[in-house]
Amino acid sequence: MGFGILCALIYLCFLVNQSVSDPRATEAALICSNISAASSDRQVFVANFLAAMEALTPLIANQGYGDVVNGSGNTTVYAFGECMKDLSQNDCNLCFAQCKTSILRCVPFQKLTRGGRNFFDGCYLRYDDYMFFNESSSSVDTTVCGNGSFGGNQTLFRSNVVELMKNLSVEGPKNDGFFVGSVNRGNLSVYGLAQCWEYVNGSACEHCLAKSVSNISSCLPMEGGRVLNAGCYMRYSTQKFYNNSASVASDGDGGDSRLAVILASTSAASAFVLTVAAVFFFMRKKVVKKRREEKQLGALLATVNKSKLNISYETLERATNYFHDSNKLGQGGSGSVYKGILPDGQTVAVKRLFFNTKQWVDHFFNEVNLISDIHHPNLVKLLGCSITGPESLLVYEYVPNQSLLDYLFVKKNVQPLGWEVRFNIILGTAEGLAYLHEESELRIIHRDIKLSNVLLDENLMPKIADFGLARLFPEDKTHISTAIAGTLGYMAPEYIVRGKLTEKADVYSFGVLLIEVVCGKRTNSFSQNSFSILEMVWNLYGTGRLCEAVDPSLDGKYQAEAASTLLQVGLLCVQASAELRPSMSIVVKMLTSNHEIPQPKQPPFLNSSSTEISPFSQKRGTNNFQPSSNTQSSGNSISESWIEPR
Ligand SMILES: *[C@@H]1O[C@H](CO)[C@@H](O)[C@H](O)[C@H]1NC(C)=O
Ligand SMILES: *[C@@H]1O[C@H](CO)[C@@H](O)[C@H](O)[C@H]1NC(C)=O
Ligand SMILES: *[C@@H]1O[C@H](CO)[C@@H](O)[C@H](O)[C@H]1NC(C)=O
Ligand SMILES: *[C@@H]1O[C@H](CO)[C@@H](O)[C@H](O)[C@H]1NC(C)=O
Ligand SMILES: *[C@@H]1O[C@H](CO)[C@@H](O)[C@H](O)[C@H]1NC(C)=O
Ligand SMILES: *[C@@H]1O[C@H](CO)[C@@H](O)[C@H](O)[C@H]1NC(C)=O
Ligand SMILES: *[C@@H]1O[C@H](CO)[C@@H](O)[C@H](O)[C@H]1NC(C)=O
Ligand SMILES: *[C@@H]1O[C@H](CO)[C@@H](O)[C@H](O)[C@H]1NC(C)=O
Ligand SMILES: *[C@@H]1O[C@H](CO)[C@@H](O)[C@H](O)[C@H]1NC(C)=O
Ligand SMILES: *[C@@H]1O[C@H](CO)[C@@H](O)[C@H](O)[C@H]1NC(C)=O
Ligand SMILES: *[C@@H]1O[C@H](CO)[C@@H](O)[C@H](O)[C@H]1NC(C)=O
Ligand SMILES: *[C@@H]1O[C@H](CO)[C@@H](O)[C@H](O)[C@H]1NC(C)=O
Repeated sequence: MGFGILCALIYLCFLVNQSVSDPRATEAALICSNISAASSDRQVFVANFLAAMEALTPLIANQGYGDVVNGSGNTTVYAFGECMKDLSQNDCNLCFAQCKTSILRCVPFQKLTRGGRNFFDGCYLRYDDYMFFNESSSSVDTTVCGNGSFGGNQTLFRSNVVELMKNLSVEGPKNDGFFVGSVNRGNLSVYGLAQCWEYVNGSACEHCLAKSVSNISSCLPMEGGRVLNAGCYMRYSTQKFYNNSASVASDGDGGDSRLAVILASTSAASAFVLTVAAVFFFMRKKVVKKRREEKQLGALLATVNKSKLNISYETLERATNYFHDSNKLGQGGSGSVYKGILPDGQTVAVKRLFFNTKQWVDHFFNEVNLISDIHHPNLVKLLGCSITGPESLLVYEYVPNQSLLDYLFVKKNVQPLGWEVRFNIILGTAEGLAYLHEESELRIIHRDIKLSNVLLDENLMPKIADFGLARLFPEDKTHISTAIAGTLGYMAPEYIVRGKLTEKADVYSFGVLLIEVVCGKRTNSFSQNSFSILEMVWNLYGTGRLCEAVDPSLDGKYQAEAASTLLQVGLLCVQASAELRPSMSIVVKMLTSNHEIPQPKQPPFLNSSSTEISPFSQKRGTNNFQPSSNTQSSGNSISESWIEPR
């Protein structure tokens, strides 16, 4: 019993420590350049952009910053990213993943802009069409002020902020371009952070921060302010927002010395009384808190104990031979997956989650419980989890064959998929999704439908993996971004640009997948052909030659009518307007019965020769094959330079 409580407490301490972690993945400003690429270069530029983003991610994960140059001539893309130096590596990865997703709003669908910067409070990302890495200032440098005015002593506040900012601007360049600190004179604390980007040299850093001091002062008397420059970032706030456990803190002369003064001027005796009282007070508070937490933890442990879903960490460690590399099945956006054999002989797939679930253990377990109740032949079954070990694990049913991606494109000595098989895979995937969206008791939007998330069983029937992940991490949206960033080709335009997420975003991804499976081409390979597969099918549809899009490796062994029907359904699913896309249950009907199949309208093209197409135009063109004229572009253009303060 006593030992149990001790364990519980150690565990709680772990929880409390973990919950301090904060990737500061809030956007301070997104600034898109208003120079757009010539339409003839657009596809190449975007392909280079995507390749650069992809290459940047591991650099950031290794060293906290990175630069990439991809492409040649006038389609060269330069990209740079860096985390604030006080972030832990894990928080850095989370922040960057989200930053990377959100900078996409500068890129696709309308006019491609040739530059963009995204300032998050924890990280920074910029791409451009020229070498900017050591640039310290630019014409779009900006200052973003908080909108709450400070309520206390203005004079004091102003002088504390100015002193802190001056101090940061002096100490930053001396300290490898980074400094955090606080000033707390007169019982009024302000906190600040300054950082120059990696390639900005000492003198340029000094200059950049010095300029920032004067700019940020213009934010006073607001409670917060940020300067977002080409070469540096500076921020102050009345809240402590940084992590100074890395020891580079500069405390003002206020707080501690004040305490010293109080103690010195009081007699030793009353100091003693005070101290005892204080200690007693804190202990009491702690005990009350401790009792409450113990109670919660006890209830939680009991639920988990009762359930067969609780699989111990040690069991899973042994099942996977201590996560041995030879057991590794793959790596996804949310974690790596290992093959394992449970003591009862059952083969399972164990997913090690990158994300920290410690903060939401009870919610997490609850959701695992709910999701494990979902049964459908086309969904990979969730069997259990381990939440008390050093990392969070999910245990899934093992699906013997590889993913659709492996089968179609990685091709490791596999039989090419024939027409019947492809049709059944598409139908099964549609049925699985229809079940998730409309039939199961939980409404689940998958968010990450793509070839690698459709697994094939021994009969080559599809099983959708990884559904419900989004439900497991309610308060942390960043992991979702990690999962989706990089799968741009599957993302519905309204999701990328407005973050609007409905089942129709899955329908879009499904449509892309359908077209890939039928055509045997990938949408998002970093080639000159990225994005063009939808366009190609759309154009063939317009001229009544859909069958020409079918994978040539089928060697003509397919049913022409069924193939055109499939592709037409695919086009319906990728229509720019979410409302026009059919629901998944209708898609199933279209594939299996004589359900009417309407004429699809245009998908959101990146490159449509001369006309810019707005996928968000509410106008419904009467002529299917004529791009709607972009009359609303000034109203909803995403490509003009704009800034979104938070
Ligand atoms: C604070 O920074 C230190 C050193 O980088 C790191 O070990 C720690 O995890 C960070 N803490 C949080 C809460 O981010
Ligand atoms: C980029 O270069 C290509 C040929 O190298 C040319 O066709 C194209 O017009 C150029 N684009 C711009 C914006 O200069
Ligand atoms: C650009 O990225 C692509 C895809 O990753 C890669 O094949 C190519 O070598 C890169 N080009 C340059 C110049 O780095
Ligand atoms: C900036 O970096 C580039 C490439 O590293 C270099 O050629 C250039 O001289 C640098 N400029 C300055 C002003 O340091
Ligand atoms: C920042 O300060 C400089 C002068 O130090 C000024 O020229 C510039 O306009 C200011 N920028 C902003 C965004 O306030
Ligand atoms: C700042 O403005 C935003 C939107 O304009 C608002 O949602 C937010 O509550 C405001 N914050 C404060 C502290 O006034
Ligand atoms: C505000 O602070 C200043 C400096 O500490 C002090 O001189 C002044 O009396 C304060 N004003 C008020 C209204 O408290
Ligand atoms: C310091 O500030 C806190 C809250 O801002 C207040 O409760 C406290 O009384 C202040 N102490 C002194 C000595 O002014
Ligand atoms: C630092 O960079 C600035 C501007 O980028 C440049 O003018 C200066 O020569 C560089 N100084 C050194 C020592 O490289
Ligand atoms: C900045 O703060 C640190 C820590 O309090 C102090 O040692 C240093 O002298 C200050 N620098 C300036 C320029 O005020
Ligand atoms: C889960 O099961 C393991 C043994 O399989 C047990 O040690 C543990 O107490 C149970 N409860 C939790 C919360 O892990
Ligand atoms: C969990 O189960 C284990 C053994 O199955 C038992 O010893 C332990 O007391 C249980 N814990 C709770 C909190 O029910």
